[in-house]
Amino acid sequence: MHVTGSTPNLPAPAPEALAISRQLEAQIKAEIHASQGWIPFVRFEELALYSPGLGYYSNGTIKLGPDGDFTTAPELSVLFGQTVANQIAQVLDSTGGDILEFGPGSGKLALDILQALEARQQLPAHYYLLEVSADLRDRQQQRFRQEAPHLLPRLVWLDQLPEQFTGVIIGNEVLDAIPTHLVRWEADRIEEMGVSLENDQFVLAARPISDPQLLEKARQLPVHAPYLSEIQLRAAGFVSTLANTLQHGLLLLIDYGFPEREYYHPQRDQGTLMCHYRHHAHPDPLLLVGLQDVTTHVDFTAMAIAGVDNGLSLAGYTSQAMFLASAGITDLLARADQEDLARYLPLTNQAQRLMSPAEMGELFKVLALTKGIEEPLLGFMVGDRSHAL
Ligand SMILES: C[S@@+](CC[C@H](N)C(=O)[O-])C[C@H]1O[C@@H](n2cnc3c(N)ncnc32)[C@H](O)[C@@H]1O
Repeated sequence: MHVTGSTPNLPAPAPEALAISRQLEAQIKAEIHASQGWIPFVRFEELALYSPGLGYYSNGTIKLGPDGDFTTAPELSVLFGQTVANQIAQVLDSTGGDILEFGPGSGKLALDILQALEARQQLPAHYYLLEVSADLRDRQQQRFRQEAPHLLPRLVWLDQLPEQFTGVIIGNEVLDAIPTHLVRWEADRIEEMGVSLENDQFVLAARPISDPQLLEKARQLPVHAPYLSEIQLRAAGFVSTLANTLQHGLLLLIDYGFPEREYYHPQRDQGTLMCHYRHHAHPDPLLLVGLQDVTTHVDFTAMAIAGVDNGLSLAGYTSQAMFLASAGITDLLARADQEDLARYLPLTNQAQRLMSPAEMGELFKVLALTKGIEEPLLGFMVGDRSHAL
């Protein structure tokens, strides 16, 4: 996700938006009261992002692109989806099967991938979309109705994962949006952070960890107290489920994050939680509840382990810049009409933003987990960093 600066002076929300936020706050406060005055942060984030009709991803306000809160790689440039399509085409060539995208946002990545595969005459029979937000699902359908109605018969919206799947499963910037546990390490104890109320205002508050799986993971991590960070049990659980679903093919996970050692680096002692509101980034998840995105960086070591423990092979891990370069973004650019400056110059600028280490090129990573694929993957031919996980 790319934002243009960081400031605590956030733009004032419109009255209708504030009304939604107040309603959501009231719902969360009622749950806190009903839970002896405290809910775990993971539950707070779940409600803030996904509470039906009210949560950030469910309340119908525009999230992605220039008018929203942040811009993702597919929104930034068609080159992203076209390059990812090169990787998908290589895999589908050998495995056959379909594509399944989870968290498809505005549907832009789906559209760009399908149009690129259509141009190569390699369209899969189906493109499955797993979307938890009813509002975003509507937007995805609308996009295809307007921009590529002939592709609609191939699209299948899912409410849950199928039991078995062959082909390519892909998710861009979804793991960071899956609610996370927040944990605090002190010299003599480890606690889970949650949300309670003081003078009817949300405050962060610690409690002893009651979930044995969370406690075990918190004890294993290489942190030096005092330390505050996230543990993405749910995202890892989701990757385990995807791994069990994939019978033959590729699971491609793209997001911002680091391997465990870097994620839990001593200097990152306040964790990675960030909020995005109208292209401003700040670290307070208790503000503008339901109106701002709440995200965390991804611990790619935990995601790789979740895949490998459930039968997948680690086939590659690299930066977005390396992946796009290996998968052919420069060829795509070279094929564009360089005489048509009005089209060509924006494309070069977009490629630069996708690949520059100062923008999305280095912070964003691509993790490939496969089943039953022997040949090396196109996008990881150069600069594979699997050893760093
Ligand atoms: C930051 S947006 C990214 C959207 C899009 N992939 C893109 O790159 O523009 C996160 C998306 O993940 C979806 N999401 C979150 N948790 C999910 C889950 N468990 N299964 C499927 N989608 C999920 C959200 O509804 C939203 O569409």
